[in-house]
Amino acid sequence: MKTFTTRRHLREFLAAQTTATIGFVPTMGALHNGHLSLITQAKEANTVTVCSIFVNPTQFNDPKDLENYPRPIEADKAKLEQAGCDVLFYPGVSEIYDDNEQWHLNIGPLEHLLEGEFRPGHYQGVTQVVYKLLDIVKPDTLYMGQKDYQQFMVVKRMVELMNIPVKMVMCPIEREPDGLAMSSRNIHLTPADRQHALVLSKTLNWVKANFNGDDIATLQQQAMERLGAEDGVQPEYFRIVDGKTLLPANSNSLTIVALTAARVGKTRLIDNVLIR
Ligand code: PAJ
Repeated sequence: MKTFTTRRHLREFLAAQTTATIGFVPTMGALHNGHLSLITQAKEANTVTVCSIFVNPTQFNDPKDLENYPRPIEADKAKLEQAGCDVLFYPGVSEIYDDNEQWHLNIGPLEHLLEGEFRPGHYQGVTQVVYKLLDIVKPDTLYMGQKDYQQFMVVKRMVELMNIPVKMVMCPIEREPDGLAMSSRNIHLTPADRQHALVLSKTLNWVKANFNGDDIATLQQQAMERLGAEDGVQPEYFRIVDGKTLLPANSNSLTIVALTAARVGKTRLIDNVLIR
């Protein structure tokens, strides 16, 4: 695997791959099997697979979260090698951002719903960095996880609005054997938190099993109660929404997704399930 820390060297290398198709997997590192499944999917369909590791400061609304974000770069490199990743882009903050940089993209209601309500500014930071990374890597296909369902829809909206010539692929959520969605933040869970955290996937599955299209409000309320009844768990939201608009699901919704966020001990977790 080739590692580049500057845009210029990465561009020079990629520009020379004239016949290649490029698959791109942006990450913030602390890689787990969820990330690696994206690499595998990119490898299957492309000649060159590029992964970026960049803990993007502009998308953290909580400075402590940014500070505590795990950064095990040597272990990450070994995992990428093992997964057969061709190129790692590992820039420092000054390689990506100028001191006085401003960014604002109007992505409409998607920005302020769900995660946007609890993490103000988060999706401005996400679109800012993904825009820059796409401009540097210029991939044919961008691979992102269903784990961050709203993030995928936000980036998709940006790609449409800005006419970025890239195809997007959503990869399924990788889970631990007991159902917990893999996340870089799971390492912050104490053994007790780790048990309590199972209530997220269990509640999502319960809702999926009990969904019949009517009285969505009651189902959401019951889900919130199930989450809140678990020791150490403070639910932030549980919503059943249209998979495209992320507005409340209705009978015309082609896809319906249930999404949730909760604090488990000191760690904030998100998860979701496709209902139909
Ligand atoms: P990060 O949280 O590192 O996630 C990188 C990619 O891995 C995202 O597309 C995410 O949805 C996917 N992913 C995470 N956990 C997963 C799981 N359990 N199963 C499948 N895919 C999973 O998301 C970000 O980084 C950043 O916001 C980023 C897009 C890199 C911009 O900074």
